Amino acid sequence: MGTITVTAPAKVNLHLEVLGLRSDGFHELAMVMQSIDLCDRLSVANTADGQLQLSCDAPELTIADDNLVLRAAQLLRDRSGFQELGASIHLEKRIPIGAGLAGGSSDGAAALVALNALWGLGHSDSQLEKLAAELGSDMPFCIAGGSQLCFGRGERLEPLPAPADPLAVLLVKDPTVSVSTPWAYGRCRELNGKSYLSSEVDFETRRRMLRQARWVHPISADTPLPLRNDLQAVVEPETEAVQAGLRLLNSLPTSLAVAMSGSGPSCFALFPDLPSCEQALNALRSELDASGLKAWCCSLRNQGARIES
Ligand code: C5P
Repeated sequence: MGTITVTAPAKVNLHLEVLGLRSDGFHELAMVMQSIDLCDRLSVANTADGQLQLSCDAPELTIADDNLVLRAAQLLRDRSGFQELGASIHLEKRIPIGAGLAGGSSDGAAALVALNALWGLGHSDSQLEKLAAELGSDMPFCIAGGSQLCFGRGERLEPLPAPADPLAVLLVKDPTVSVSTPWAYGRCRELNGKSYLSSEVDFETRRRMLRQARWVHPISADTPLPLRNDLQAVVEPETEAVQAGLRLLNSLPTSLAVAMSGSGPSCFALFPDLPSCEQALNALRSELDASGLKAWCCSLRNQGARIES
């Protein structure tokens, strides 16, 4: 087989609710995650020497063994039992790094999808999601992507119907700022730990409320979108780039809703369609430039890591 190329989309969190602390030290979450059409591309080809090699067009990204792409490749090869399998992997990076957009997780998920096909292992999406859960909390979602409820650490997935309208996202990020996810959750615990829920019954009540929320059945431009991100209240006061991004996005009269994504610092506004999103970007362009913020207009995407035809 020749080269296989897989698209690896970013995600935004339409809902990120911190429910409590788990016995494994992670947080128990209730989330709505949504893939967006801002994508990295991962190409894989067999090598005869049994090596796993990674190259990347973004010099700022570490391509050492701790990169999620190589960790995913190693895990998949170990579990296959065929230690002689090798691959040369090339990553084209478009998703900003350390942005709260699951770029690294999506690249890792794409590696699982690509190498599963290259090596003819025949794993289903749900088998790949189990492997992904061993590597990162956001990674299982990135396999099938689309619109999903994510519970537990993020690995308990319940697919949602596809959005009813061609919604679009205006994403902004200061390219010089990134936020550490462990720091954001640690700070959340410091500030809010006393009010965390602690029983499984209470967790399940919150999950049920999110499952039954009208705005996710399906996500549409006609139903108010009550975006929520509990990490925003933790990260925003300490991160000027988030304050600036939210201020500018909140000034847009045509947006449906505004929030930070994941642990930040990316922030986004939702629009009914791509043309209204692009119009808003044009209106905001000079202020974004003055604040040092980079911006992207993207459609929502109904799938995760997928082999390009
Ligand atoms: O799973 P992942 O490696 O992406 O998590 C990074 C860090 O974020 C964890 O080490 C933990 O500090 C925090 N985290 C958490 N609860 C989650 C997911 C992540 O506390 N559900």
